[in-house]
Amino acid sequence: MLNWDDYHSEQSEISSATFVGQPSTVSSEEKLSSERSFINQSMDTESTKVPTGLEELEVGASRVTVDEKAMINCRADLNQLVPFKYDWAWQKYLDGCANHWMPQEINMTADVATWKDNDTLSEDERRIVKRSLGYFSTADSLVANNLVLALYRLITNPECRQYLLRQAFEEAIHTHAYQYCIESLGMDEGEVFNMYREVPSVSKKAAWSISHTKELSDPNFQTGTIESDQVLLRNLIGFYAVTEGIFFYCGFTQILSMGRRNKMTGVAEQFQYILRDESMHLNFGIDVINQIKLENPHLWSEEFKEEAIEMILEGTQIEIEYARDTMPRGVLGMNASMMEEYLQFIANRRLSQLGLPEQFPGVQNPFPWMSEIMDLRKEKNFFETRVIEYQTGGALNWD
Ligand SMILES: [Fe+2]
Ligand SMILES: [Fe+2]
Repeated sequence: MLNWDDYHSEQSEISSATFVGQPSTVSSEEKLSSERSFINQSMDTESTKVPTGLEELEVGASRVTVDEKAMINCRADLNQLVPFKYDWAWQKYLDGCANHWMPQEINMTADVATWKDNDTLSEDERRIVKRSLGYFSTADSLVANNLVLALYRLITNPECRQYLLRQAFEEAIHTHAYQYCIESLGMDEGEVFNMYREVPSVSKKAAWSISHTKELSDPNFQTGTIESDQVLLRNLIGFYAVTEGIFFYCGFTQILSMGRRNKMTGVAEQFQYILRDESMHLNFGIDVINQIKLENPHLWSEEFKEEAIEMILEGTQIEIEYARDTMPRGVLGMNASMMEEYLQFIANRRLSQLGLPEQFPGVQNPFPWMSEIMDLRKEKNFFETRVIEYQTGGALNWD
């Protein structure tokens, strides 16, 4: 299932396979000390750097076994996809491919007429369209850059890397989709693409994300110590749980609400497909984080948990400020305080997906229709403007 509401049942299936070479019966203390000695060994010399997959071939080396595979700091050959250790990662790669779509397949004619007619949309509605395209047109580029320039080489598992490559292409499609909307509507491209440097509520989100990729994007950054492995975890939480898991939700909700009111249905449909992709990215990231926790329990200390909670709270607050800035008044059947509750509801989900305590007791979801739109089991597109079938290959079986 790819609906994030179902996350927990999915998570329970995540491989509980142990760290490199350890039988599953070892106690967590034994595991911890063996992991520490592994880490110390790995840091002994320059020649024991964590492999990237570009090392010289070791002709005649023994074949890779499942037990040798690990999410981070893996010593085994990274160029052999099988045998799979993380079947869920391969499945997500297949699901992503089966849901392939392209922005040009969506009919934008009605949107162009609506945008050009100054009377159809209110000023508040026009602001929402502009701000959303302003934020997302550069946000997906930040996510893509984090994937290929920072994260990819540090995830030492080929089936997860396969998904990361698919995700990177999907991020390119998303940036393409935003550009396609901006161009179709004849917007001022300079204004929209510079919004992340010129509009404070937008730039605050972008700056927060960039601050969580800084250390990792240094080409000399290496994992293999508790400190550096925690830097990697912070990046995963910062990008998957906060950027893709919280920062995208105010804009998505606003644009999809517009589509439900039969306004800007082409833009709304682009956002609908992007949201479906994003909910899969989010689930993948959460699975990776939880797998790293399983394999390296010493990283998930009480102190680190507090830090993770703090990151989610910080991201939620920044997104609430964005909601207030983009909705100075009620618009599209919603207002900033409803969005605040929705974002707190989303934050609770992210926390529980990571095994952390919810921080906003009793909040409800004021927009239950968002879950319906995200539900990939629905084969029909929501706004019915797309000219061809959404799914390709007939490969999906949701039951
Ligand atoms: Fe994206
Ligand atoms: Fe994404």
